[in-house]
Amino acid sequence: MNTLLRLSGWILTLFLASASSKPIGSPVPRYFQRDLTTPADITSEQVQKDLGSLISNTSLIFGSSSDAWANATDRWNYYSKPNIQAVIQVGQESDIAKVVKYCNENSIEFLAYSRGHGMTTTLAQMKGGVEINLSQLTDVTIQPGNKTAILQGGAYADKILNTLLPQGYTAVLGANGCVGFGGLSLGGGLGRLQGQYGLVSDNVISMNVVLANGSTVTVNENSHSDLFWAMRGAGHNFGIVTQFKIRIFPVNGPTWHYHSYVWRQDKLEAVFNALNDLQGVGKLPAKMGASLGQISINSSVSTTEAVISWTFAYDGSGNEAETLLAAFNKIPAIVNQQGDVSYPELLVVQETNSASASCSSQRYIGASANMQTYNVTTQRLLYNLFNKNVALQPDFGANARLYYEGFSSIGSQAIDAASTAYPHRDEYLPAYFITAVPEGKEDAARQWAYASRDMWNQGQPNRRPTTYVNFAAGDESLEMIYGPEPWRLEKLRKLKAKYDPNNSFRWFNPIIPPN
Ligand SMILES: Cc1cc2nc3c(=O)[nH]c(=O)nc-3n(C[C@H](O)[C@H](O)[C@H](O)COP(=O)(O)OP(=O)(O)OC[C@H]3O[C@@H](n4cnc5c(N)ncnc54)[C@H](O)[C@@H]3O)c2cc1C
Ligand SMILES: *[C@@H]1O[C@H](CO)[C@@H](O)[C@H](O)[C@H]1NC(C)=O
Ligand SMILES: *[C@@H]1O[C@H](CO)[C@@H](O)[C@H](O)[C@H]1NC(C)=O
Ligand SMILES: *[C@@H]1O[C@H](CO)[C@@H](O)[C@H](O)[C@H]1NC(C)=O
Ligand SMILES: *[C@@H]1O[C@H](CO)[C@@H](O)[C@H](O)[C@H]1NC(C)=O
Ligand SMILES: *[C@@H]1O[C@H](CO)[C@@H](O)[C@H](O)[C@H]1NC(C)=O
Ligand SMILES: *[C@@H]1O[C@H](CO)[C@@H](O)[C@H](O)[C@H]1NC(C)=O
Ligand SMILES: *[C@@H]1O[C@H](CO)[C@@H](O)[C@H](O)[C@H]1NC(C)=O
Ligand SMILES: *[C@@H]1O[C@H](CO)[C@@H](O)[C@H](O)[C@H]1NC(C)=O
Repeated sequence: MNTLLRLSGWILTLFLASASSKPIGSPVPRYFQRDLTTPADITSEQVQKDLGSLISNTSLIFGSSSDAWANATDRWNYYSKPNIQAVIQVGQESDIAKVVKYCNENSIEFLAYSRGHGMTTTLAQMKGGVEINLSQLTDVTIQPGNKTAILQGGAYADKILNTLLPQGYTAVLGANGCVGFGGLSLGGGLGRLQGQYGLVSDNVISMNVVLANGSTVTVNENSHSDLFWAMRGAGHNFGIVTQFKIRIFPVNGPTWHYHSYVWRQDKLEAVFNALNDLQGVGKLPAKMGASLGQISINSSVSTTEAVISWTFAYDGSGNEAETLLAAFNKIPAIVNQQGDVSYPELLVVQETNSASASCSSQRYIGASANMQTYNVTTQRLLYNLFNKNVALQPDFGANARLYYEGFSSIGSQAIDAASTAYPHRDEYLPAYFITAVPEGKEDAARQWAYASRDMWNQGQPNRRPTTYVNFAAGDESLEMIYGPEPWRLEKLRKLKAKYDPNNSFRWFNPIIPPN
């Protein structure tokens, strides 16, 4: 307790500094205007007393002078770092509402943090405030009957799998072990079981949510159903989820079949044609959970010509899977590996486990597009641009990747697109360019990223460009992210006015941008 009090005394200095120097709302609609005034008579004793007695004693509060600061402010993407002044690691779910109310009373900005993989640069627009770190809230509890589980707001894939799999159950999660359920599910959530059961968010049954005003509400089909609609696709804009209730499923079998290939560039057309044959237009078979690829430099093959790597994951037997992969087996590969492995081992062989490079923090620059099918001519143009830039950017070209994500979408297509805020059920193939860059090379990387995105979109001249909210770089239009149908943004804006009139949740690809 002593420590907490000491730290909260310390935090006050920051808050006072921030509150007096922070210009927050300029020309925005009146109902999004925030009151700028911090009570003039606030004293450090008051704040110490308030926070110290308010939140549980397993909470931690600290600022930039703490030893824990460097680690605590590290994020997957350096360029998505909000400029925060303090971290509050809450010890209990009930602390979250208390912190939000406290922040409101003192005109302090706040942002929820689950696993820090949020990659959009809009997060960096936050200038001052506190991060409410949910990392201590990761409990996963299977409910009686084994049909549902309760996840705390900071739960993430590894933690969820470690609880469910030993009991013979699984859940729709993202591909990587490291990523938070919170950020991922609130944006829709794509993953290997999407073909069988729908999006991650389609399997959220209920949420406990702290609203902008600090009230805690239950959000589901029967309670605040309008908000339930919004929080499955645009959820980062509406509240802090303290608890999710999700559907769980018995595992189909003890192993998944995987098959990974690496091809040289002369096979590019053959590979993408075979992918189009297998995937059709949104027809990747439900149990072929993942068809993930990348174009990148493998220096043991060549330092000037990128290779094409692809990895498939099938929730069933090797025989069934290999029948579907026959065309790929006919394309001579330089690496060709397959096997039947447990789900945790699948994460390792597909390089999506927490120890893999994909989970490591870097200075990342990227951009993303969605497709229905691959335009093979376009993929060749992208490939050529890739090699050209590898030569032009010796400082970071070897870090760059064109990343292709194909999760079966049979399950997510079966759900009425109007029934949730996720707008892209007819986009089957997200792709993104991503690279880690040294300081000073940001502009060159951004040019390459945007050129790649433009090419993907030019390859589908009859379609509107879109971006998955969780892959957005931060420069996209709202229509690209939240859907081109005017009713979607209208509905989202009305719900913002109802549930977050001061636009407190405006840091993650905001529906109402900060001014
Ligand atoms: C390596 C990697 C792999 C990925 N793979 C996939 C994938 O397979 N499928 C997919 O769909 N996406 C995937 N993504 C994208 C991922 O969905 C987003 O990066 C997501 O925002 C990460 O969530 P987080 O909780 O880890 O990050 P955070 O940065 O902690 O959260 C992102 C934002 O979500 C909000 N938020 C987080 N938790 C809560 C909560 N409990 N309540 C309210 N708001 C909250 C906050 O606004 C926060 O700023 C991947 C990302 C990475 C980096
Ligand atoms: C919005 O801000 C005003 C002024 O600070 C405050 O009175 C009101 O309670 C806030 N509303 C919400 C929902 O936070
Ligand atoms: C922390 O709070 C719990 C009750 O929530 C109490 O049992 C415990 O003694 C407290 N620990 C300390 C160190 O104050
Ligand atoms: C920071 O993180 C590293 C790596 O996880 C760890 O070794 C180190 O002890 C941490 N430092 C502090 C002060 O927590
Ligand atoms: C969040 O808290 C966890 C421990 O609970 C810590 O490891 C991590 O560094 C913290 N991150 C942030 C951004 O506060
Ligand atoms: C739930 O799962 C546990 C662990 O596998 C099992 O022992 C129990 O019988 C299951 N209960 C039901 C109702 O299926
Ligand atoms: C790079 O290529 C070598 C074969 O030359 C292979 O063994 C290795 O797995 C490849 N690496 C990746 C990441 O694909
Ligand atoms: C494929 O992309 C090229 C440009 O990259 C474009 O001219 C062509 O129309 C596209 N084909 C289809 C079928 O969309
Ligand atoms: C908080 O906001 C919700 C949604 O607008 C509203 O129903 C509730 O009454 C508000 N609570 C308080 C205490 O103002």
